Amino acid sequence: MQRIYIETYGCQQNEADSEKILGMALEMGYEKTDNKEDADLIIVNTCAVREHAELKALSNTGQLKHIKEKNPSLLIGVCGCMIQQEHRKEDIKMKYPYVDFVFGTNMLDRFPQIMKEVKSRKKRSFFVESYDVNKGEIKEGIPVARAFDHSALVSIMYGCNNFCTYCVVPYVRGRERSRKPECIIEEVRDLAAKGYKEIMLLGQNVNSYGKDIENGINFAELLRRLCKVEGDFVLKFMTSHPKDATHELIDVMAENKKVERHFHLPLQSGSDRILKIMNRRYTRDAFYSLTEYMKEKIPGISITTDIIVGFPGETEEDFADTLDMMKRIRFDGVFSFVYSKRKGTPAAVMEDQISDEVKKERMGRLLSLQTEIQTEKNREYVGKTIRALVEGESKSNPNRLSARSKEGKLIHFDRFNGSDELVGKFVDIKITSAEAIMLLGEVIK
Ligand code: 5AD
Ligand code: SF4
Repeated sequence: MQRIYIETYGCQQNEADSEKILGMALEMGYEKTDNKEDADLIIVNTCAVREHAELKALSNTGQLKHIKEKNPSLLIGVCGCMIQQEHRKEDIKMKYPYVDFVFGTNMLDRFPQIMKEVKSRKKRSFFVESYDVNKGEIKEGIPVARAFDHSALVSIMYGCNNFCTYCVVPYVRGRERSRKPECIIEEVRDLAAKGYKEIMLLGQNVNSYGKDIENGINFAELLRRLCKVEGDFVLKFMTSHPKDATHELIDVMAENKKVERHFHLPLQSGSDRILKIMNRRYTRDAFYSLTEYMKEKIPGISITTDIIVGFPGETEEDFADTLDMMKRIRFDGVFSFVYSKRKGTPAAVMEDQISDEVKKERMGRLLSLQTEIQTEKNREYVGKTIRALVEGESKSNPNRLSARSKEGKLIHFDRFNGSDELVGKFVDIKITSAEAIMLLGEVIK
């Protein structure tokens, strides 16, 4: 039997794509392996959102050379956002001769045909189409080999229309295309019936779900309908754009126990001037009001965000505005990124690029402020009992299991006799102590 190994970089959309590639491969008769050295086919699913992610994917692709030398019949394929950029496709062509084929983000469903062609041609193949020739019709019914049996990813839309000036995603993932609501509802119904406890709805901007479908429904309505699906599961979603996040959506969350008590709302910058140059199309006041509305309607909600540090032209005053927003909103978590130039985006050629030194210094200040806020916020949970889904062994301590609450909080507890049987189940945990990144607790039996 032929064996496939898939290496995935980047966001959950890429994880979801890899689950489809594996699903198709299994149908083609492949078997999954977790050992590259053992594989007959290696797929590297790449990310392009920051330079660091690209360099990591490229360097790991470089290491495959030795495996190929030992096993010349090995086939190596590279896919994902990175190779959807012309210059990176050329890099693979010129500098990575042991890569046998590449395929774009808009032809995932053609993976079986691609493999057939690769095997029959016996020469290097580059299947990359730009998004203008592909209107991006969504193929339903692709088999999915899910990575977990209690938590599932469900893409509800693909692409992005927003063109934030720093971001490469609209170029490598094309325009917004929404799946039909009935297909999504059917998939969620099937997952709930199979006992999945956590279902993550995915899209680059879930808040504009349905806008591209004639007589389509909006995201709030989709969520409302999904809440009616029978079963004991939590509905999560990622990612929201503040300019499109509505009160209606927050009301649906408030009214339905099935939806997580967590909202990930990327701020990017707290300065109106920078937000404008980023083409984000909201103000700091509008963002703040939205978070206030969430806190009022959903007491105890946890709010997390993304922030970019060192966007071109960011002054000390602009950065102070970002820190000020963090102090006012008190996020439960901040994913902070140093600005990374992306070829072909407007921000990459803007004047006043910020030096690495300044970026690093600002990042340090942001992190120490956030650690302080997060520790204080997490301490509020001590003594409380919260319901959480047990995910498995803790990544940092094999003597502990980790669980995730509806607020998105990571909770660790000591393993005990029989505790491993709780994996994939909801439990009540009494919180005993708190750190910045996690809570510690005891399962209440
Ligand atoms: N540089 C740094 N961070 C970026 N992000 C997107 N593009 C860039 C870039 N060029 C961040 C944004 C986004 C998250 C997924 O990645 O904060 O929300
Ligand atoms: Fe990138 Fe902005 Fe689209 Fe998010 S909304 S994927 S940051 S362009």
